[in-house]
Order: sequence, then C-alpha cells, then structure tokens
Amino acid sequence: MYLPRIAILISGTGSNMEVILKACITGELPAEVSFVGSDNINAKGLDTASALGAQTRVFFYKRDGRKAAEEAISMAVRETETDWIILAGFMKVLSPEFVRKFPDKIINIHPAMLPSFPGAHGIRDAWEAKADHTGVTVHIVDEEVDHGRILAQERVDILPEDTLETLEERIHRVEHRIYKETLIKHFLENPISIEDREE
Ligand code: GRF
Repeated sequence: MYLPRIAILISGTGSNMEVILKACITGELPAEVSFVGSDNINAKGLDTASALGAQTRVFFYKRDGRKAAEEAISMAVRETETDWIILAGFMKVLSPEFVRKFPDKIINIHPAMLPSFPGAHGIRDAWEAKADHTGVTVHIVDEEVDHGRILAQERVDILPEDTLETLEERIHRVEHRIYKETLIKHFLENPISIEDREE
C-alpha cells in the first residue's frame, strides 16, 4: 500500500489546509502533501504552507484563462504523482472537463448542509435565510457545483444569541475536525494500489 499523495487547493486563509497539512506532517493523517496550490498569489495560506515546508504553486486564472490554468493544475497533479485533489476554500469552479479527468478523486468541503445553501456564501446565505440550523458537508466533486456523493455531514444549530461571526467560528471549528476525520477514513477505505500508480 502506498501513502496517498494529496494536492490541496486554496484561495485565501487556508485554515482547513493548515489543519490537513499539519495532520500529514504529524502522521495523524496518513498522506503526503504533494503541493498546495492557489489561484490567488496573495493567498495567506500559501505563506502558511511554505512555512510548514510544503511546495506551493500558483495557477494564473486571470492572466491565462480557466482552460490554461486548469491544464497547469492537471500537469502539476500528474508531475507530482498526486492521487487526490483536496479543495479547501478554492473559489474557482472546476470545469466538467477537468472533473472528468479525475473521477472520484476530487474532494471538497462546503460550509452548509448540502443540498441546502450551495454557492460561494453558504454560511451567510443560511444566516440571512434565518434557518434554524446549517452545517458542514464533505463531498466528492462531480460535474455540478457543490454537488456529488456526500462523505460526511454535520449539523450546526443557529442559536438565538449567534451573530454571523460566532456562527462562522463554530462552523470553521466543525470543518477543521470533520475534514481531517473524513479524509483519514476515506483514504483508509480507498487505498492507492500499484495500478493507480502505474496509470
Ligand atoms: C471554508 O468555510 C470552506 O468550507 C469554504 O471556504 C472556507 C475556506 O476557509 N469552501 P479556509 O481558507 O480554509 O480558512
């Protein structure tokens, strides 16, 4: 059995990436981070990743367009023999063509109970809808946005005393736990075989 190699894609703070990367470093999450990539050269998470010793890459969507940027991601994935692509606050929608190249190999975290509140503002949308609960979803990425087989979901109640900020804080706390736990379980249940490596 091989140690799975994962690429983590981020666009901003990278707090989920940081938890995952640290868990790989300590061995709590049996995987190796092949690189941390971002569409945003100024993403704070890139500095965090470098400081922790990870390779970082930037994919220039604005300059090169989506097609070329996605080709660069594919190339980086192949070059580094990456097995799984882990989206952690990556704000670009991956094209169906890209997703089809890596079937069942892209995983995302979304800060709501999908199918409720998909999109870029999952937490705020649940808050503004005055929902009594929201949550966190970890799922396989398919060709639709914020859609695909759900690997884990956890409910987070919206309390009368909550502000948007306290709700965000509680959701992020759940995300940091559930993403790591789900990846540990998923990699254990879906080991990388010699055939995967020889593809
Ligand atoms: C998280 O809430 C994640 O679910 C969403 O974007 C946010 C990223 O936060 N897709 P961070 O960059 O991991 O701190």
